[in-house]
Amino acid sequence: MLKYRQLDRGDLDGLHDIDRGDFSPTTYRVKHGELILEDREFWHTGFTRAEWDSYIRKFSAELHNGVTILFGAFDGSTLVGISGLEVDKYRGSNRDMLNMGPMWVSSAYRRPGTGTQLLEMTRRKARDLGTRALYVSATPVPGTVEFYLRAGCQLLSVPDKYLFALEREDIHMGLELKANKTDSGGSGGKFGVPIVAVSMLTLLITRGRITFQRSYKPCAFVKVEKMLWRPKAKVSNVVHFRKKNGIGYG
Ligand SMILES: CC(C)(COP(=O)(O)OP(=O)(O)OC[C@H]1O[C@@H](n2cnc3c(N)ncnc32)[C@H](O)[C@@H]1OP(=O)(O)O)[C@@H](O)C(=O)NCCC(=O)NCCS
Repeated sequence: MLKYRQLDRGDLDGLHDIDRGDFSPTTYRVKHGELILEDREFWHTGFTRAEWDSYIRKFSAELHNGVTILFGAFDGSTLVGISGLEVDKYRGSNRDMLNMGPMWVSSAYRRPGTGTQLLEMTRRKARDLGTRALYVSATPVPGTVEFYLRAGCQLLSVPDKYLFALEREDIHMGLELKANKTDSGGSGGKFGVPIVAVSMLTLLITRGRITFQRSYKPCAFVKVEKMLWRPKAKVSNVVHFRKKNGIGYG
């Protein structure tokens, strides 16, 4: 049985054990706000030792500076999966999302729920930090995109400019985080927003003091990121992806 825990710098050498390789004959692309599946190959041969070393240096510095939190899945003492959360900057058009760091599960450990467990730990941490949503820049292969869709992610109509520039081929999504029981609802999830706005409005109407200023302010303060998801359509187009090599979290 796999064990899951937060990682520290001493665990990072274990990244060399992860087989990140992947192949897919098809990839997703976003066109006019819709996800479409194309006959376009994706292949990733796995990171080389040098590429892992460069990730280890990056994560080691980030853990030291407290800007990233990492979680790992272990089979015995072997690291077989990793996920992460960047906690230094808010992302998204409303600057209220935290970006997912890496999410790699060794090929031999995919589909018994390893990725789901790692995502759950990441999601819980982001929620505990009071974040409205997770930002996900997903490799466009069906396995990865469908993993995130299944977890509840939705296509973002407005990707984060910086993250989009880093990974233009990725599918940029958001995962709304459910509010804690202890949350007051002010910065909570999708459903907290209308409830707060409606109760403020009701209060103002019943007191006969409704003005544009007063009714608008609470809504602006909790403005919701617009998310879109439409059924996929298939188009024919064969393009070969370049090998992703250590840019972003390929
Ligand atoms: C994406 C990834 C992390 C998912 O990890 P995983 O351990 O396989 O995921 P899970 O077993 O928790 O899958 C949960 C659900 O996601 C969906 N899913 C996962 N892999 C899928 C695939 N290849 N095709 C279709 N759906 C898939 C399924 O609905 C699955 O539930 P099911 O097994 O009951 O059908 C893993 O495939 C991976 O590391 N891929 C290569 C690296 C990568 O692309 N990382 C993401 C970078 S953004």
